[in-house]
Amino acid sequence: MQRLANRRYLVTGAARGLGLAITRRLVAEGARVMMADVAEELPDRVAEIGPSVAGVRCDVADRGSLVTAFGAMVTAFGGVDGLVNNAGIAPRGDIFSETPEGFDRVIATNLTAAFHATQLAVPHLIAAGGGVIINMSSVNALLTIPSLLAYNVAKGGLNQLTRNTAVALAPHNIRVVGIGPGTILTELAKNAVMADDAARRQILSRTPLGRAGEPEEIAAIAAFLLSDDASYITGETLYADGGRLGLNYTVPVGDDA
Ligand SMILES: NC(=O)c1ccc[n+]([C@@H]2O[C@H](COP(=O)([O-])OP(=O)(O)OC[C@H]3O[C@@H](n4cnc5c(N)ncnc54)[C@H](O)[C@@H]3O)[C@@H](O)[C@H]2O)c1
Repeated sequence: MQRLANRRYLVTGAARGLGLAITRRLVAEGARVMMADVAEELPDRVAEIGPSVAGVRCDVADRGSLVTAFGAMVTAFGGVDGLVNNAGIAPRGDIFSETPEGFDRVIATNLTAAFHATQLAVPHLIAAGGGVIINMSSVNALLTIPSLLAYNVAKGGLNQLTRNTAVALAPHNIRVVGIGPGTILTELAKNAVMADDAARRQILSRTPLGRAGEPEEIAAIAAFLLSDDASYITGETLYADGGRLGLNYTVPVGDDA
């Protein structure tokens, strides 16, 4: 399928995990992608994927760095048709242990970055006649895990950013949508929640499909939402969670997986 032929996307956090899988899928559907990340392996991933992509070192928590990324995108591809706000971190910390600096860093990376990138993308999208913005949310926008306090708060805020900007940008033919994954097998998930057997068993016990998701399953949703097949969807966050949100299953209070 070449649903995204000649479209140009900026994907943050593109060097690993979901961002990398999304980049590969968008390229397979005909798009060009500017891969933005702080990870050292970014140039290797860019070289592997080939001429449809370019890379820019970008710390999404720094607005100036995002300005540089959009500049690189315009230089490389001549414009912007869409943005995937995907970069995120999920360090542990609850209301007792979280530091002010730690809280601020998670909010800056997972939430404020999406505000900055959206604001910077809008003039380019309007110039292109419209476009699509995806915010990478989580089931944790709706469900809470006490030890992921800042992450939960950031993802909840991100859903409101999606709804708010969808309404504000609709007159400009810009759709804003979210994806809310459950547990997907990336480094972040392996470190944050799949690190030990008990936590893994707990997660699978409350996942009706009985398995964690694969990054490619999220990438397929991103391609759909960016494409004209999703032309009447805006303001929504689509949850890909193996059925988890529908399951009324409780775990003991204090369990943190
Ligand atoms: N994997 C899951 O189970 C899962 C579930 C729900 C939501 N998500 C969300 O999906 C997104 C991607 O997660 P993932 O699992 O692929 O994580 P990951 O850790 O595998 O990859 C995250 C990428 O973001 C980059 N990154 C981190 N901080 C950055 C910064 N300040 N500037 C630029 N790049 C930065 C990292 O270098 C890395 O390449 C995150 O927003 C995460 O919250 C993941």
